[in-house]
Amino acid sequence: MRIGTLDLEQFYPETNLQTVTAATLLTMPTLVTGNFVAGASALGLAWVARQALTAWRRDNCLLGSDLDVIDTRDHAAANTNDAVTARLRKATGNHDLTAIESRSAQYRLLMVANDDPAQIAKVLPRVASVLGVAPDALGWIPTAGRDLSIILAPLERAEWLPVAFDESALTPGKLIGYIGRDVLSNHVTYSRQDAPHMLISGTTRSGKTEAIRADIQSMRLSGLKPEIHIIDAKGTLCREQCATFTADMREGLATLQAIVEQARERIKEIVAVGCDNWFQYKAKCPDVCPAPIMVYVDEYPQLRALDKETVEAVVGELSRVHAASGVFVTLGIQKPKAETLPTEIRDMFDIRLAMRVPDSKASGVAIDEPGAEGLPGAGAFMFRNGGDSVVRGRGAFIEISI
Ligand SMILES: Nc1ncnc2c1ncn2[C@@H]1O[C@H](COP(=O)(O)OP(=O)(O)O)[C@@H](O)[C@H]1O
Ligand SMILES: [Mg+2]
Repeated sequence: MRIGTLDLEQFYPETNLQTVTAATLLTMPTLVTGNFVAGASALGLAWVARQALTAWRRDNCLLGSDLDVIDTRDHAAANTNDAVTARLRKATGNHDLTAIESRSAQYRLLMVANDDPAQIAKVLPRVASVLGVAPDALGWIPTAGRDLSIILAPLERAEWLPVAFDESALTPGKLIGYIGRDVLSNHVTYSRQDAPHMLISGTTRSGKTEAIRADIQSMRLSGLKPEIHIIDAKGTLCREQCATFTADMREGLATLQAIVEQARERIKEIVAVGCDNWFQYKAKCPDVCPAPIMVYVDEYPQLRALDKETVEAVVGELSRVHAASGVFVTLGIQKPKAETLPTEIRDMFDIRLAMRVPDSKASGVAIDEPGAEGLPGAGAFMFRNGGDSVVRGRGAFIEISI
């Protein structure tokens, strides 16, 4: 599947230059002579000519015309779009093509009732022409099911839909995290039982703090009354309900050290009743099993800068051993670097959520592949759960009411 970014320049690529040149040539003499009526008529004529030329190049289809009449604003609400179907059939000469349209948060989805990759590949450039986007801006899932292929056309940022936090994707009694929705509008979730620790990467305003907020909300809704500790140098998470909050890095380190002590005691208790880890203990002795401890460190490098060795020793111990004690760590980081996030620690963080990062090297550290540097921000993510392949989508947005 390829997913590109929308390039507005691509909308009327064939005619932009000609229109500007023609308009300039036509209006220059009239401006010089002061004949504004002639100038206005000349511009009008240029506009009509531009529309006609674009329409001709686009199989008689202009964006903003009846192609957009069916505006499915709801996630995954699919409608057969007769206008697009007719145009696709005309443009490709393939009368098996039927367009069922819906929108995800960031894409317009065209479900085409055909699962022959060769046939779809052949028609893609024509489909791009009908949709008015560059062929390489289209994403494509060749066989999305029997008789079904999906074409993804990126939406303009202004048309993106917010992704609501959807409680129905969670399971009471389990530590499930709600991330958001993928490009097909499917829920993206993960389980702390399978992958206990999470690394969230992203530059300023990419949506990192919102992602942490959604995770805190998910853990709260597990019904397991988690004990939440937040260490956040910027202080943006100060309104979250939690056991402890600090924006002071010294205090933050002390909190982590106290949690390590607590975790060491817990593991003795867990082993004493014949269990290997907190999840087993909870299943065996639900009445006495203590609450899970959730640790969120936003802007982790700030904490590390305080005392590199001590912080790495504490975070290392928590992430390596204490998932078994019921301690789950989430780190937020703007520009993940191999030097500041050594492999021994990074490897413990199986849940990787990357929003937009500064460059492809940072993307490699964040999710083990490039791509996150090209994300547009405001919640757009690439997500990897352990060895699974990367999923793209948009994060849930919880608006806080004060
Ligand atoms: N999932 C999202 N959906 C919509 N808008 C978002 C989302 N995440 C972030 N934003 C927008 O981006 C702004 C910055 O997000 P924030 O999480 O504070 O970024 P960061 O912590 O990476 O600096 C938010 O105020 C919001 O307007
Ligand atoms: Mg932030």
